[in-house]
Amino acid sequence: MDDKYVIAFNSSPRKEKGFTAMVLERFMAGAASEGAETETVYLAGKKIADCLGCTWCWFKTPGMCRHKDDVPALHEKMLSADVIIHASPLYICNMNGIMKRFLDRIMPLAEPYQEYHDGVCTHPHEQNPEIRHVLVSTCGFPGLRNFDPLVLAAERMAEVGGGHLHAAVLFPSSVLLARDPCPAEEQLDYVFRAGREVVGEGISEETVRGYSRPYVEPQAYVDELNELFRVLRENALRKS
Ligand SMILES: Cc1cc2nc3c(=O)[nH]c(=O)nc-3n(C[C@H](O)[C@H](O)[C@H](O)COP(=O)(O)O)c2cc1C
Repeated sequence: MDDKYVIAFNSSPRKEKGFTAMVLERFMAGAASEGAETETVYLAGKKIADCLGCTWCWFKTPGMCRHKDDVPALHEKMLSADVIIHASPLYICNMNGIMKRFLDRIMPLAEPYQEYHDGVCTHPHEQNPEIRHVLVSTCGFPGLRNFDPLVLAAERMAEVGGGHLHAAVLFPSSVLLARDPCPAEEQLDYVFRAGREVVGEGISEETVRGYSRPYVEPQAYVDELNELFRVLRENALRKS
């Protein structure tokens, strides 16, 4: 499949130097290796105003936000994509503020009307329901459960837009990604494979299992980091 367009929105303020970018790059490389057109947007460099909650985009100028910033152009990219990657570092158990600010601005793409089914509501939406949404995230703590609130939010977001979350690519204990040799190298190879599969038949369960395998014993990781943090704190206090 060589005509797919894969767009990634990475909201880390550390942009291409961040841990989230390390995982995302593997995914995008996998998609590109299958001939897909790939593009990564670093939201931290974009002008994204806060939603004012004015509902002009619904009732005064339908489909158009009153803000003049970078968001409409980013929406154009979203609407033409076959795969949308939402890549955010985990901040206080959820997506970071930059990603949330960007997503709050999705209102002009949705109709105001509500559709109730099975205990939740969605809006009629311009997005193609065939679009594959993928969540990519990294976090500092060990263990995949840290991502639970973020995954739930991503699932609901995709659903509200009339789609579904195709896969979540989650890497805890993120400082280990920068270690040489990297203990998560095999898992990252599976991320490349996920990128290849997402533009074809879809990411397989085997691939999800492959990149989700633990690469550190949680207590050993916590003990090691705590010792490092203790030294850093002592040094900082001595200098202050
Ligand atoms: C403000 C802030 C809040 C964070 N909150 C969490 C958290 O709740 N749980 C966690 O495991 N890591 C947390 N972290 C660590 C980041 O998720 C982790 O370092 C991540 O890999 C950063 O990705 P980046 O380098 O792409 O920005 C937090 C970091 C910051 C700066």
